[in-house]
Amino acid sequence: MIEQPIQTEEPNRGISRRRFLAGAGLFIAAAAGGGVLYRAADNGVFSVGQGAAYAPWSDLNDLSGTPVDLVRCAILASNAHNTQPWFFHVTANRIDLYADTSRNTGAIDPYRRELYASTGCALANMRVAAPALGYAADYSLMPTEGDETHVATLTLSAAPPSASALVDAIPLRHTERTPYDTARKVSTEALHRISAHAAPFDDVQVAWITETDAKQRLGDLILEATAAIIADEAQSQASFAWQRHSWDDIQTYRDGITLDGAGQDTLTTILGKVLPATSREQSDGYWLASMRDRQVPTAAAFGIISLNDTDDLAQRVQGGMVWQTMHLQMVADGLAAQPLNQIPQRISQEQRTRAVGYFQQAVADLTETDRPVLMMFRMGYATGTAHLSPRRAVQAVLL
Ligand SMILES: Cc1cc2nc3c(=O)[nH]c(=O)nc-3n(C[C@H](O)[C@H](O)[C@H](O)COP(=O)(O)O)c2cc1C
Repeated sequence: MIEQPIQTEEPNRGISRRRFLAGAGLFIAAAAGGGVLYRAADNGVFSVGQGAAYAPWSDLNDLSGTPVDLVRCAILASNAHNTQPWFFHVTANRIDLYADTSRNTGAIDPYRRELYASTGCALANMRVAAPALGYAADYSLMPTEGDETHVATLTLSAAPPSASALVDAIPLRHTERTPYDTARKVSTEALHRISAHAAPFDDVQVAWITETDAKQRLGDLILEATAAIIADEAQSQASFAWQRHSWDDIQTYRDGITLDGAGQDTLTTILGKVLPATSREQSDGYWLASMRDRQVPTAAAFGIISLNDTDDLAQRVQGGMVWQTMHLQMVADGLAAQPLNQIPQRISQEQRTRAVGYFQQAVADLTETDRPVLMMFRMGYATGTAHLSPRRAVQAVLL
């Protein structure tokens, strides 16, 4: 999955002197032509995180406690390729959550497993936020037989407001794609505290990979899956379709993967915006290099979320709820995380094309269980802060 339009070929050292000079030369040449300032402004160099596309993040400063405010929290959740595949129907004491299956990632997620997990992330934010806004919230999953888009009904009743560290983490959470601090391990207590959020769900399990040897083997497999996605024209194209390069596109569509969210250093990000847009092939190359040099080798731990049955829609939603709640816990604990879902994406594609289940077998060998995997992620202590990603307005997702 190409979740980041990476713009450097030598990511370990940020940007090399040679590349910097080459970039600076191009920059000056373009400036001489008079276009660079225009391109810089046009692509948001001077307005990172600004504009209507980013307003939903600061909207949380101004909540009045209505049920729609729960939806304001929901739309900030983690979601595959920032597709935001959800709709909400809100009344005074009930919120119905629907999957917007048109906002899918095609061959990246042929069975829509990630799409349903994403709706689970939105539901988790509403559950976490409800007590803080003065609601007790009960929910049921897939409540309408025969309607696969009706993901959940959340029933609200008044309750004394109660704060929590997790609700405070909602506007602070983002996918952290910067390198993590390789000198800092995550304590066993912290890992237990985080994965305890899976305990209420019988069908969802979380496994941690923390030993050096096992991390190396899983990391290599994730890189192999990344290369396999790049080599698969359908998957590469499907992923590229959700990348937003220009400021206009970001402000118009308010979704997708942006350069600002890629976790690159400032100069590389600026050059990425000012220089001519990269092709899909270049973008794939930067992605693989970033995975290989910055993201996989700096993981303090990898996590694996597995289900009893990845074809079960309710279980996918529960898996997403677990991911989102764990991510909030990590943020509350000062930790950072990034889903790295290339292996499950390859497993889905292998199933769809009836190819030999190479990645499924490789994961089973590595984890010594054949539980099907919904999501994988890396976590650790971040060395930088990636910028926020855009969100559609709450009005755009209300039915
Ligand atoms: C099911 C699922 C799969 C994801 N897979 C990846 C991935 O492979 N690589 C990655 O960098 N981010 C991945 N993400 C993170 C999303 O890209 C991210 O949540 C989305 O772009 C919104 O950005 P934010 O988390 O910073 O708000 C995934 C998220 C979900 C829920």
